[in-house]
Amino acid sequence: MTMTAMQMSDRSHEASEYLVSVRNLRRHFPIKEGVLQRVAGHVRAVDDVSFDIRRGETVGLVGESGCGKTTLGRCISGLLNPTEGGVYFGLESEPHRELDDLLNTPSDGRTAEQDQRLKELTHLYRIDAMPKKRWAEYRRNCQVVFQDAFSSLNPRQLVKDIVGRPLKVYREASGSHLNARVIELLDSVGLGEQHLFRYPHQFSGGQRQRISIARALALDPNFIVLDEPTSALDVSVQAQILNLLHRLQQEHGLTYLFITHDLNVVRHMSDRIVVMYLGQICETGPSREVFQNPRHPYTEALIAADPTGGSEERDGFRLMGPIPDPARPPRGCRFHTRCPVATEFCGWDVDDVVRQLESSGVSIEGVSAVERHSDFSAELDFGTEAQAAVLVDQLQSDAVPDVMKRSLSQLKRSDKRVSVAFDPVEEVRLERVGPEHDTACVLHTNQYPQLRERS
Ligand SMILES: Nc1ncnc2c1ncn2[C@@H]1O[C@H](COP(=O)(O)OP(=O)(O)O)[C@@H](O)[C@H]1O
Ligand code: SF4
Ligand SMILES: [Mg+2]
Repeated sequence: MTMTAMQMSDRSHEASEYLVSVRNLRRHFPIKEGVLQRVAGHVRAVDDVSFDIRRGETVGLVGESGCGKTTLGRCISGLLNPTEGGVYFGLESEPHRELDDLLNTPSDGRTAEQDQRLKELTHLYRIDAMPKKRWAEYRRNCQVVFQDAFSSLNPRQLVKDIVGRPLKVYREASGSHLNARVIELLDSVGLGEQHLFRYPHQFSGGQRQRISIARALALDPNFIVLDEPTSALDVSVQAQILNLLHRLQQEHGLTYLFITHDLNVVRHMSDRIVVMYLGQICETGPSREVFQNPRHPYTEALIAADPTGGSEERDGFRLMGPIPDPARPPRGCRFHTRCPVATEFCGWDVDDVVRQLESSGVSIEGVSAVERHSDFSAELDFGTEAQAAVLVDQLQSDAVPDVMKRSLSQLKRSDKRVSVAFDPVEEVRLERVGPEHDTACVLHTNQYPQLRERS
C-alpha cells in the first residue's frame, strides 16, 4: 500500500510536506507557418495548472492523448521551461501558505513589500529561478522514466554504461565501486550481473523499462516522474513493472507523479488523481473519492471507457466527437463540445458555430467577411442571401445541440448578413466539492447558482 493522506500529514513536520507545488503553469508552443516561419498561433499545451505533490505519495495524472500530460511532466522535471507560472520545490507549510496568498493577490493590488517577498520566495523555491546549487539538488532528486525505453536508452551503450552514467557524471562512483553499484541497481529491478555487457536491443520491452528504472534510481532520488511507463508493454508485463515500481517506492520512500492515459493503471497506484482536459485540470481529489464519486462528466466518461474499472450505471457516458484543437480551446468549460450534459452556461460561442457546422459536414460556403465584436458575438457576410439563409437554417437544425441553440441570444439575418450572439460566460473555475476534492463543472460548483436551484 502506498502512504495514505493521513500518514502523510503525520509526517508533515519532519520535512516539508510539499515536495513539488505547481502554480499557474502555462506552456504554449508557437505554431509557425510559411517560409518566413511566421507565428500563426499557439498550442496551449498546458494552460494555467496548479496542484501539489506531497512527499511519499503517488499522484496519478490522467487524460486523453494530447491533453498536455507529457508537457506538464517535462516542466515539473525541469526539462522544459514554462511560458508562465512555475514549479516550486520543497516549500515548507508557512512559505507554501504565504506563496498562495501572494499569488492570489492581483499584481496591481500587492504592496511593494509583498512584491519583494514574492521575489524572495521565487528565488528560494521556484526551480527555474533558484540558485544553481539548489537547482542541481532538484535535478538529482527528480528523475524521469519515459514510455519508450527504446528511444530513451542509447542503443550503442552497454547496460553497465547506461546505468552507471549518472554515477559517473555526478562523480558518485568509479572503478570497481561503480561496477558493484551498477550490479546492485540491476539487482533491485530484477536484472543482474549477467546483463552488464549487453546492448538495449538484446532485451524485451519490459526488461528495457527495468533498465530505465535502474538508471533513474542511480542517484538515489526521492521523486520520479513516470511518463506512461507501462503503456508500451503487454498487460502481463505491465503488472510486473507496476509491482516493481510499487516495491521500489516502499523500499526507497519515493514520491511518484504517474502519468497515464489509462485510468485503470493509476487506480491501484495513486493516492490522488489529477484529471486533465485540453491543458487544464478538470477534476482532482483522493483516488478513492474520484473513482467512487466522480463529479466531472469527463472523469465519468474516462471511468466508463475503462472496461475493468467503470461501474455499470455509468456506462451511459461515452465520449462524443473529436478532441478540439488545443490552439483554439473552447471557451467556458473546454469540455462543452463533447459533454453529454452541457448546459447553456458552459461556454457556447462564435467558434462553436463554425465547429458545429464543420463537424456535421456543412461548409459555410460563401462567407465573405466575419466581423467579430467579441468571442460571443459576430456578423457574417455572405455572397448571396440564399447562402446566408442556409446558415440560419443550419443553426436551427438538429445538427446543433439544443443547449447551444438555447444559449443563442441572437440569430438574425438581414439580406446577406447574419448576426449571431451568445450570452457571455466566464471561464469555468475549479471549486472545492469535498475533502481535497475539486472539480471544474458548473453542475457541481457555485458559479451559476441558478443551475443548482434547477437541479
Ligand atoms: N515541442 C512541441 N511543439 C509543438 N507542440 C507540441 C510540442 N510538444 C507537445 N506539443 C503539443 O502540445 C499538446 C500536448 O502534448 P503532450 O504534452 O505530449 O500531451 P500528452 O502527453 O497528454 O499526450 C499536443 O497538442 C501536442 O501536439
Ligand atoms: S461545465 Fe460541466 S456540464 Fe458544462 S460542459 Fe463542462 S463538464 Fe459539462
Ligand atoms: Mg504524453
